[in-house]
Amino acid sequence: MTQPRRILITSALPYINGVKHLGNLAGSMLPADVYARVMRLKGHEVTYICATDEHGTPAELAAQAAGMSVQAYCDEQYDIQRAAGEGFRLSYDWFGRTSRPANHKLTQHFAQALEKAGLIKAQTSKQVYAVDDGRFLPDRYVEGTCPHCGFEKARGDQCDNCGTLLDPVDLINPYSAVSGSRNIEVRDTEHLYLQQTGMQDTIRAWVNEKGKAWPSLAVSIANKWLDEGLIARSITRDLSWGVKVTSADGSPRPGYENKVFYVWFDAPIGYISATQEWAEATGNDWEKLWKRDKGADQTEYVQFMGKDNVAFHTVSFPVTLLGSAEPWKTVDKLKAFNWVTWYGGKFSTSNKRGVFMDQALGLLPADYWRWYLIANAPEGSDAAFTWEGFQSAVNSDLANVLGNFVNRITKYCASKFDGKVPETGEPGEAEAWMANELAVRLKALDEHYEAMEFRKAAAETRAIWAAGNEYLTKAEPWVKYKSDVNGAAVGVRAGINLAAIFAIIAQPIIPDAAAKVLDALGIPAGNRRWPAWDDTALLDAIPRGAPITPPDVLFQKIEDTQVAEWTERFGGGQG
Ligand code: MF3
Ligand code: ZN
Repeated sequence: MTQPRRILITSALPYINGVKHLGNLAGSMLPADVYARVMRLKGHEVTYICATDEHGTPAELAAQAAGMSVQAYCDEQYDIQRAAGEGFRLSYDWFGRTSRPANHKLTQHFAQALEKAGLIKAQTSKQVYAVDDGRFLPDRYVEGTCPHCGFEKARGDQCDNCGTLLDPVDLINPYSAVSGSRNIEVRDTEHLYLQQTGMQDTIRAWVNEKGKAWPSLAVSIANKWLDEGLIARSITRDLSWGVKVTSADGSPRPGYENKVFYVWFDAPIGYISATQEWAEATGNDWEKLWKRDKGADQTEYVQFMGKDNVAFHTVSFPVTLLGSAEPWKTVDKLKAFNWVTWYGGKFSTSNKRGVFMDQALGLLPADYWRWYLIANAPEGSDAAFTWEGFQSAVNSDLANVLGNFVNRITKYCASKFDGKVPETGEPGEAEAWMANELAVRLKALDEHYEAMEFRKAAAETRAIWAAGNEYLTKAEPWVKYKSDVNGAAVGVRAGINLAAIFAIIAQPIIPDAAAKVLDALGIPAGNRRWPAWDDTALLDAIPRGAPITPPDVLFQKIEDTQVAEWTERFGGGQG
């Protein structure tokens, strides 16, 4: 094997305000997990880090709506999201929280370093102030009429109707989202501003260099921001929940006692602080992943995210890292996704449209969803979830193509060959055809994963399974058995080996079903690694004579009645 690589993987930190829907899962955490699994199977040193993103106005408002303190609300939601991640088999090495002390400390450290580098300055600006509430109303704390489209419930930071990013002071007829009060004034307030203007050339050079390894979507978003020109960005807010603003000695910064850092300033720093938490808890070294002078130059850093997050990862966060003048690691490969839509529209809890992670697991095992979402990853464009598409992917790819193959060959082996891998017979034309299919297709599969092309990887996986069915049609062990037992034995031996290979390459996408097959075939854990595509012995790799047992039914087909019931419950085409 080639040298093991050291790979750091992060997926965009899911916001704390509620369990995520299938679209969020498909656009960052799930593909990151699949990639992490592939790279581990290939023998690389993988660290996959994620965390909940817990600060900002949405957390405070959701807590208030739930009648809870923000801390208690976040604790509860963290447990729910962690359980949903486990249920979906997301193989995080660490799932942290941005509200933990490590992140507060590191965020304050970055602010100090940036200030020392002359990149943070205090500036006075106009903010919306609610006289009756006795407070400023940042971002989502204020709502009003959108100046662009006239929508009457636009939020201070963005209009949900037309998508325009807003400044709270732009809203027409503003009112407090806390109390509903319309007794609103615009007052002066001081905030810290990150002087991104001074980093324009550095970031441009960095994007030109690093962007060579990014998809065009990511490069064009970064360049759009750079072309418009980076401007100073306020990185503090008038809120109480968040990372406190401190002076160099760690004491509260005068004038900032009632302010905290803006959530988008501290959240990406959470990638690093969560890695620190992981290192602390497991006795690992975080600096070789994040400090360029401590080995991180030999680390490949891969980020996964939805397209709305790209600007923050290709411009804002790099400003923080590079502006600190400290040797921090920056992203090498970046994979950005479009949206998964619900029948072409938005997921929405209130309108009963779409399935959320915890609900999904109540309907079917994780593998079913994982397969469909990866096979239909929103890579080239948005991808619509439909019950009909889901049903057909599960029934055809999983139940018919993979499930039937495994079922057929293991049952036949059990009944005619005493449940042991047949020992006799010489490979012939059909086996040569199959070996060539494997050589070509396993190489392609490997290339798709290296290129982070998940749809293509799933399609190739399925094509390999389908080639196995074609092989059995050619080899016909059940026909040969009557006149040529040795001929049948070769076919069954190759078939059992194929079942193992099919499960091995399925592990990243459908880990539970794959484990079930590999257990039934008695494949030891150490032999479940990624197959080398130029291995000529793949059809005769399991020791001859080894006992196997047919696994239980791998996949239940989805019935039309289930589709009808779920469409009723969660919405569908008519919704
Ligand atoms: N919570 C953000 C979202 O859901 C993503 C944060 S990614 C990070 O869009 F880099 F800030 F962590
Ligand atoms: Zn609008």
